[in-house]
Amino acid sequence: MTDTISRPAPVGAEPLFNPRDLDFIRDPYPAYHRLRRHADLQWDAAGKYWLATNYDACANILKDKRFGRRYEAMIEMMYGRDMMGETAFRQMRATMLMSEPPDHTRLRGLVTKAFSAARVERLRPRVRALVAELLDRLEPRGSMDVIRDFAHVLPVVVICDMLGIPEDDRWLFIDTATITTRMLDPVPMNRLELDEANAMFDEQGSYFTDLFERRRRSPGDDLITALLEGGDEGGLTQDEMLANVWLLFAAGHETTRNLIGNGLLALHRHPDELRRLRADPGLIPGAVNELLRYDSPVQYVGRTAYEDVTLDGVTICKGQLVLCLVGAGNRDPGMFADPDRLDIGRPDVRPLSFGGGIHFCLGAQLTRIEGQETLAGLIDRLPGLHLHDVDSPSWQPNFAIRGLRELKGSW
Ligand code: HEM
Repeated sequence: MTDTISRPAPVGAEPLFNPRDLDFIRDPYPAYHRLRRHADLQWDAAGKYWLATNYDACANILKDKRFGRRYEAMIEMMYGRDMMGETAFRQMRATMLMSEPPDHTRLRGLVTKAFSAARVERLRPRVRALVAELLDRLEPRGSMDVIRDFAHVLPVVVICDMLGIPEDDRWLFIDTATITTRMLDPVPMNRLELDEANAMFDEQGSYFTDLFERRRRSPGDDLITALLEGGDEGGLTQDEMLANVWLLFAAGHETTRNLIGNGLLALHRHPDELRRLRADPGLIPGAVNELLRYDSPVQYVGRTAYEDVTLDGVTICKGQLVLCLVGAGNRDPGMFADPDRLDIGRPDVRPLSFGGGIHFCLGAQLTRIEGQETLAGLIDRLPGLHLHDVDSPSWQPNFAIRGLRELKGSW
C-alpha cells in the first residue's frame, strides 16, 4: 500500500463522505471511488471515525481480533454519557449483533444450528412454493410494487415460519422497518426518532412477551420454542430472548427485501444481463452473489479497536470506531475487474455484504436461497416484467441499509 494511507480525509467544501446527503444515498459509488483513491484507511473528522474503503482493509479489520464491538462506547461517542438506559439501546445491546464473547458465543450458539447450510437448504421447497403462491396472486393483476407486494412479503413469511410467529400477527410491525434501519446509520438520531425507536421496542416487547408465554404453555416446532427450552448452550434471559428474537425477525426480512429490490433494479438497468439470465437460469446462484456485490443491502459494518492498532503506517487508537465501507470494498478495482459493471457470470464473487469474522451474517445462506428462488420464479412467470422508474427510483433515506421505497412494475 502507498503512504497515502496515513492522510486524513481531505478538507474541502464538500466532504467526500456524508451519510446524511441524499445524493450520496441515491448513488454512493462515485464517492466511494474518490474516497478509495484518496486512501484505504482515513480519518473522518466530521464523523469522528475511521473509514476503511477498499476490499482488503475491510476484510482484514472484520477478522482482526484486535477489533470488536464496544456498543456502550459507540453510544457514548454518538450521544454522550448516560444514554444506555434508553430502551432502544438496552435492547440493541442484548442482541448477538452488538454483544461480544463470551455472551456472543452463547447467544449465537443457540441459533447457529437452525441456520446451517444443510438446515436452510431444506427450506428451499417451502421458499419455492411461497414464490409460486405470491406470483399466482400477483400475475392476474398485471402490475405490482415489487417492494410492497413481493420483496417485503416473502422474507417476512419465511422468517415468521421459522420463528413460529402466527399468521395473523405477521404484519403487526410492518411499519417499523424504517425505525430499525435508522438506528443503524452512523448518524445520531434526534430525540423524536429515539422516542419512536423506544416505543417500537416497547410495543414489540409486549407482543413477544405474550407470545413467549403462549409458547411455554403450548410449545411448537419452531425457533422461539427451541430458544425458550434453552438447549446445551444454556438458556437466555428474558431480555436476551426479546432482543434476539427481534433481531432475527428484523434482520431476517429488511435486508433480504433489499437484495430482491436492489437486485431486480440492477438487472433491469442492464437488460443484456437480464436476457443472459433468462437464457441460462443456471447462472442464478452466481448472479445472486454478483447482485449482492453490485449494490449491497448493507453498506457498512462498524468495529471498535480494543487496543492501539497500527495498520500500514496508520494508528487506530484504542476505542476508535472504524466504518468498514463494504459497499465500497465491493466496488474495489483491486479486487474486481471493471467493478462498476454488472456481470452475472463473474467467477467466484465473494462480496463483503455479509460482513466477516465472528458476526458474519447468520442468514447468508437463507437469503441466497430466497434470492435464487425469487429470480427463478420471476424469470419463469413474469418474462414481460417491465419496471417503471429504473432511472430515478425512490430510495429509502438511509445509508447503512440500502433499499428502495418502492419499485413499480407491470407486464
Ligand atoms: C449479521 C448482512 C440477511 C440474520 C449480519 C452482518 C451483515 C449482514 C453485514 C454483520 C454485521 C456486523 O458484523 O456488524 C445481511 C445481508 C442480508 C442478510 C446483506 C441479506 C441480503 C439476513 C437474514 C437473517 C440474518 C435473512 C436471518 C435471520 C443476521 C444475524 C446477524 C447478522 C442474526 C448477527 C450475527 C452475529 O452477530 O453473530 N448480516 N444479512 N441476516 N445477520 Fe444478516
